[in-house]
Amino acid sequence: HRLAILISGSGTNLQAIIAARDAGVLPVEIALVASNRPTAGGLQRAAAAGIATAVVDHREFATREDFDQALIQQIDRHQPDTVVLAGFMRILTAPFVRHYAGRLLNIHPSLLPRYPGLDTHRRALEAGDSEHGCSIHFVTDELDGGPLIARARVPVSANDTALSLSERVQQAEHWLYPRVLGWRASGRLRLDREGVSLDGQIV
Ligand code: GRF
Repeated sequence: HRLAILISGSGTNLQAIIAARDAGVLPVEIALVASNRPTAGGLQRAAAAGIATAVVDHREFATREDFDQALIQQIDRHQPDTVVLAGFMRILTAPFVRHYAGRLLNIHPSLLPRYPGLDTHRRALEAGDSEHGCSIHFVTDELDGGPLIARARVPVSANDTALSLSERVQQAEHWLYPRVLGWRASGRLRLDREGVSLDGQIV
């Protein structure tokens, strides 16, 4: 099962996926790590692991559509079975999302449908939530709104800051993403007209 992983930042989720692969618990080939930011720390992590990297710098394109088409070209050279958004901070256009329909996954740092968009940890604290977490979903052209696959919960404690809460959520992300990708790699996880299914059961 071939993965293309898209990042914009430090790539700790990428690192967790690489670690699971290296530990032999995630049977995937990471065919490509692509970033829209040339300085993304995750590019070094990928290079250190001997994984092919590509930079498609969004600032070099006049429109989102042009950027997305260039990204598609880079990705498709590597023929991925699943395209993994792991801290990729660009909104993707409908043609991009359609091109990878049913094989494009995202991780989001909240218990969706709560808190789509940015600043999720601060918003959870301000709402006084007693639990928070992360969600993995198939991507559609609704921002953070595609069909949910799995969520991991963490408790919120009274003295949490957005930073301390984000660290706890990231640990949950690093646990959850390799597991969900394992379901993909073994052909257990699908998206079709009826929705998300795991082992043929709608979830
Ligand atoms: C994660 O919290 C993810 O949920 C969000 O961006 C962050 C990426 O972190 N979309 P990293 O680059 O994997 O360290």
